[in-house]
Amino acid sequence: MLIIFKINIDIVFCQYEKRYIYSQHLSLSYERPELAATISPEDMEKYDVIFLGYPNWWGTIPMAMFTFLEQYDLSGKTIVPFCTHGGGGLGRGVDDITRISPNATILQGFAVNGGSVSRAQNDVADWLRGLGYIR
Ligand SMILES: Cc1cc2nc3c(=O)[nH]c(=O)nc-3n(C[C@H](O)[C@H](O)[C@H](O)COP(=O)(O)O)c2cc1C
Repeated sequence: MLIIFKINIDIVFCQYEKRYIYSQHLSLSYERPELAATISPEDMEKYDVIFLGYPNWWGTIPMAMFTFLEQYDLSGKTIVPFCTHGGGGLGRGVDDITRISPNATILQGFAVNGGSVSRAQNDVADWLRGLGYIR
């Protein structure tokens, strides 16, 4: 959310179609849950840059993000990953994003501990500045 105050972007929320209970996350970590809302491959064509935000789950992107990414050919697009985490930082997330979208350009990601999000304004600004998205 801090990012949308700094640069102008359209937002797509990746929410599960059905509700999963917490204890199911482990066994479902290799599944691809249906998403309630997403953006069609045709509409995705309009975008050159995708800021991909998610929590670090099991050291990588959540299953919802696998579902999301695997429906597009993101060749030639730029992906900017950012995540919240509980100590594991970006983990293997960027590797997995690169594996799913090998022909996209993946920029330097940003990771913030879930408990520090409210104090992350300056770090977010520094990151966006470093990438050239703000001055
Ligand atoms: C199912 C599940 C798996 C998680 N796995 C990890 C992990 O492997 N590494 C890590 O640093 N944090 C892990 N976390 C912690 C989340 O990344 C952290 O709670 C989240 O980023 C904070 O955002 P929130 O306040 O929106 O939950 C996990 C959380 C859940 C619910």
